[in-house]
Amino acid sequence: MIFISDEKIIQFLNQTKEVYGDEINIEKKIISSKKIIRKEDFPSDLDVFYNQINKCHKCSLGSSRTNFVFGVGDKNASLMLVGEAPGENEDLKGEPFVGRAGKLLDKILFAIKRTRNEDVYICNVIKCRPPNNRDPLTSEVKECEPYLIHQINLIKPKLIVALGRVAGKTLLNVDNSLKSMRGEIHNYHGTPLIVTYHPAALLRNPNWKPLAWEDFKWIQSIIES
Ligand code: URA
Repeated sequence: MIFISDEKIIQFLNQTKEVYGDEINIEKKIISSKKIIRKEDFPSDLDVFYNQINKCHKCSLGSSRTNFVFGVGDKNASLMLVGEAPGENEDLKGEPFVGRAGKLLDKILFAIKRTRNEDVYICNVIKCRPPNNRDPLTSEVKECEPYLIHQINLIKPKLIVALGRVAGKTLLNVDNSLKSMRGEIHNYHGTPLIVTYHPAALLRNPNWKPLAWEDFKWIQSIIES
């Protein structure tokens, strides 16, 4: 008889969840293909924009955050990386992807001949840390997404890369698995968007690194074309 520990079962289920979500869906479930984003009067300079919104209290995360995590990088980047939300390290520093996952992301960027300040801009769908790193709520995304859209409009990247299933499904407004969103060029408010693995998922499951590397070679070819 083979004995599998509870720990191994939980690890397997967590890894499965990262790729397939809460359920294994045979069919793609589209919640809504259209999102209505309010038009707001935002400034045409990124620093002015940051100064305008960094005291935001449109949702309750405004009261629990340490720092508003706006984004970091090249204002003229051709590649924009979008994660789901700041974690603990990011909340403390006020910069996206500065923990272990961020270190791996820096290595991936180096491999495609870039850094977080050269031809790359990094931010998140929502700018404040959700308590206990839970997934962002729909209401939080609704308040925060116009900020992301304005950042995209100012930076005008050639390509957006959503890091992980949560970022991908939130931006595409679908409830799909990472597997079904990967390998396709989607359209996010007029800008091409690709979904790939979250670097934290790659730390938990190094078997996915070759697949992520395939994605990043493809990403490099698109931004250099
Ligand atoms: N995970 C994210 O999605 N974003 C960060 O900024 C850090 C970790």
